[in-house]
Amino acid sequence: MKRIAIYPGSFDPITNGHLDILKRASKAFDEIIILIADNSNKHSRFSVKERLEMIKGAVEGLNNVKVDSTKGLTVKYAKEHGANFLIRGLRAVSDFEYEFSLNAANEYIDHEIDTVYFMSTTGHAFISSSYIDSLYQSGVDISPLVPKSVVKMYEQKK
Ligand code: COA
Repeated sequence: MKRIAIYPGSFDPITNGHLDILKRASKAFDEIIILIADNSNKHSRFSVKERLEMIKGAVEGLNNVKVDSTKGLTVKYAKEHGANFLIRGLRAVSDFEYEFSLNAANEYIDHEIDTVYFMSTTGHAFISSSYIDSLYQSGVDISPLVPKSVVKMYEQKK
């Protein structure tokens, strides 16, 4: 049986921190689907189309990784796509509380889908999508922190 996992998130935009988690997780599963949560209640810097484009550029060469988006529940998407696992990254203790309640909600919806957590490597632990945006807007070089496709998208949107 193929071991398929979903890596859900806003990815607004994807960062090298996300990529670090993804690359390590891609060794543990046969297939990973990066799933952009298309949440219209959340203000987004980038459209879903832009986020898809940035992620596709970032995962070129990772043959067992696909990218998709959903407006629905992550665990429902997982079930429909034959995935039994979700992947999430943990950067610091502060992430734990949120992940704990998200996991409880997901478990309530479908207890057969389990979440596997990967700890961020030290150099990536401080990165978040909104930090990237603030740094960029303040003129700080973000290129060491994000994939090239993200820098390109920021330049296009100028
Ligand atoms: N590297 C860099 N940044 C990271 C990171 C890492 N390894 N891990 C988390 N982050 C950051 C993100 O950049 C983001 O930063 P920001 O707030 O500055 O933009 C923040 O942590 C949270 O991001 P993310 O991991 O994308 O979580 P989220 O809260 O945006 O998304 C979903 C959570 C999408 C997985 C969840 O809400 C979901 O599954 N939604 C769909 C609906 C659903 O099924 N709900 C579940 C129960 S009702």
